[in-house]
Amino acid sequence: TLPEGCAFVIFGVTGDLTHRLVIPALYNLAEANLLPEKFCVVGITRKEMSSDDLRASLMKGLHDFATRPVDDAVAERLLYCVTAVSADPGNPDSFDKLRERLEKLEADRATGGNRLFYLATPPDAFAPISRELGRTGLLHEDPGGAWRRLVVEKPFGTDLASAKALNAELLKIVPEHELYRIDHYLGKETVQNILVLRFANGMFEPIWNRDHIEHVQITVEEKLGVAHRGSFYDATGALRDMVPNHLFQLLSLVAMEPPAHFNAHAVRSAKAEVLTAIQIQSETEALKNSVRGQYVSGRVGDTEVIDYRSVKDVDPDSTTETYAALKLTIDNWRWAGVPFYLRTGKALGAKRTEVAIKFKQAPFAMFRCTPVQELSQNYLVIGIEPVEGISLQFNSKIPGPTIAIDGVEMTFEYKDYFKVAPSTGYETLIHDCMIGDNILFQRADAIEAGWAVVQPFLDAWAKAAGKGLQVYRAGSPGPDSAEALLTRDGRNWREPG
Ligand code: BG6
Repeated sequence: TLPEGCAFVIFGVTGDLTHRLVIPALYNLAEANLLPEKFCVVGITRKEMSSDDLRASLMKGLHDFATRPVDDAVAERLLYCVTAVSADPGNPDSFDKLRERLEKLEADRATGGNRLFYLATPPDAFAPISRELGRTGLLHEDPGGAWRRLVVEKPFGTDLASAKALNAELLKIVPEHELYRIDHYLGKETVQNILVLRFANGMFEPIWNRDHIEHVQITVEEKLGVAHRGSFYDATGALRDMVPNHLFQLLSLVAMEPPAHFNAHAVRSAKAEVLTAIQIQSETEALKNSVRGQYVSGRVGDTEVIDYRSVKDVDPDSTTETYAALKLTIDNWRWAGVPFYLRTGKALGAKRTEVAIKFKQAPFAMFRCTPVQELSQNYLVIGIEPVEGISLQFNSKIPGPTIAIDGVEMTFEYKDYFKVAPSTGYETLIHDCMIGDNILFQRADAIEAGWAVVQPFLDAWAKAAGKGLQVYRAGSPGPDSAEALLTRDGRNWREPG
């Protein structure tokens, strides 16, 4: 249940993430009466800033990014709770002062000592800030029983070694159950629904295995290029940015074993376990089972997109991939022999996030009109974006005196069934942090298992440098060799429609 009081301390309060997502999500929670009664927001700025200036900037952000019409009374009540405090981990004194300020605010607002520290900062600040929170005792368990929680945004590490080091560092300061590692994909209703689809229905689980499933495709295609994030992106690339986090969330929900309970321990253990069952490839195998691409100028819809290498703060000789496709296998009884193909890229022709589960063909052609190979394929498609829903594709008789067969589609779309006010996707995550439920957050072992899988791809690509990097035109479906990754196995990527 929601605590009576809580101090919500945001590091990176002047940044994009806070303005775009955190404050609009807090607003939506406030509107739905889902914030603690005794609540305060402490916005940590590096440079001195007045609370009035911070409130004005957050109010503007709220108007720019709110997902619903803003009710001024609700917005003002929320922003009235905001206090700006400056602190910089490079200056330990400032954290001692922060402690004093926070304790005073907590007393004034009677928040009861519950504290949530939200790190919406660049990743290199996670460890230094946490260290200071540890040193000053701000994160220490309270003998009176109030909770202290740390929320960390992505990216969590840049490879296996750095993720392990960050986990080790943070876990010295805060116990695992009070550490909330965000992956915003878990805030999406459609992603949460994968568990319900699989485990609240009796009909899917019996066929959810190697006997019936031929292969699985996970697609996260984006129209957006790299735009203003040149320096972050050029050091990161599509693989690190999307695969060990967002795509692996989708993969683990689709591939995990049924947990015995719907609680954080059981669900997160089942997810971690399937990630550890993904075969770790050698670098040679990784090169063979992957494709990476970089976009060159083109048109995405009505927008002219420039070459990736011409984007501000991108190295003009960059070999960073803006597109990645991988073939992975899971070594367990359920999935042995069922490949999982993953692809993600920037500046593509369409925005599409989906999981497509391809079922095995009918075993022989009873209907001679169409050979088995020409029957359309049976897919169950879990649409995350822009289509939010589930569709099943199967074959049907074309009406008429002779037997002729065509593929048809049965579709469920959220918008047809549920009328919900649009949200940022952060509401559930923030609410869960406050009620102390970490089912939708990543545990250390799952993060490390994910990095362990992508590490050989990172290493092999780093060694190959520009060799093997394909170019693709912005607005296209991606590099041709991504298609070849499947055609060599006698398969194709699913194209919608
Ligand atoms: C972020 C990545 O984590 O996810 C971005 O850093 C990416 O590069 C974004 O655009 C995609 O999220 P969504 O919800 O739009 O699929």
